[in-house]
Amino acid sequence: MKPRLIVSRQMPAPVAERIRAEFDCPWPEGRDMTPDEVLHQVTTTQAEALLLTSHLKFDAGLIGRLPAHLRIAATCSVGFEHIDVAAARARALPVTNTPDVLTDCTADLTMLLILAACRRAHEYDAIMRAGWRRGYGLGEMLGLRVSGKRLGIVGLGRIGQAVARRARGFGMTVLYSNPRRLPAEIEQGATFFADLREMLPHCDILSLHARGGPTTAGLMNAETFALLPKGAVFVNASRGGLVDEEALIAALTSGHLFAAGLDVFHNEPAFDRRLAELPNTFLIPHMGSATIETRTAMGMRALDNIAAVLSGRPPIDPLWN
Ligand code: GLV
Repeated sequence: MKPRLIVSRQMPAPVAERIRAEFDCPWPEGRDMTPDEVLHQVTTTQAEALLLTSHLKFDAGLIGRLPAHLRIAATCSVGFEHIDVAAARARALPVTNTPDVLTDCTADLTMLLILAACRRAHEYDAIMRAGWRRGYGLGEMLGLRVSGKRLGIVGLGRIGQAVARRARGFGMTVLYSNPRRLPAEIEQGATFFADLREMLPHCDILSLHARGGPTTAGLMNAETFALLPKGAVFVNASRGGLVDEEALIAALTSGHLFAAGLDVFHNEPAFDRRLAELPNTFLIPHMGSATIETRTAMGMRALDNIAAVLSGRPPIDPLWN
């Protein structure tokens, strides 16, 4: 008999295929399950495993009501601020995420945000779609040169390091702020700042790669945006919660920031539409890991975690030990 699995959101085709081959899973009809639906499905099907994504708030309320036959919950994401890890631990429910496999694609997308924000990609694209009505003088519609700029990275973890590698290829100088200084082989010459506020005045471009959650909520606010030099570019492919969007909009409107490139927002998908009305924003609907290869690898990694636990082995990517 195949193990019973509930999947709270549609998966890429190769992952769906593996699920059908290895698990007994009532496939969701291409729509996201609510917490109540997840609870109902897990309970009525006697599921031993749950595959979820960051759309599902896996909080203490839901975890506390889950039946004992559920043996693992695997999120198909690297971020896990949607999961109450302490509640899972208290119930001894293994929870796992999907680190590593999305590092490169998220770093690539960060470079896309940096380049698009500096080089006015949204405005140029809008001009072309409107018919390119006139030629532009040599002093018009100018962006910012990326090479030679100082890139400040907030959080030099896996993704931050991958962004730093790419940025060096573009001739940028890398600065970073992190809870602790990293060894020289990881720093690769990047300048460490223990205090974010001390780094900000030295950043031409700032890119966030820290974890979401209460400890980083509102890290970029009116006060910290003001510490960036005038004309800086701001990029975020981590979590929207790190940013006070009112303050960001004010900094973009006043011209204190030259531009912003954003993949993540406070409210997703109901993001603050004022950001889309500004000419100097380049916006992406939370797609950091959204390539065929990476989304497939993430789904497979989540299934590997599930398979490990259901066969009595330890999880590969546990969120608690
Ligand atoms: C994407 O945002 C993830 O956490 O995987």
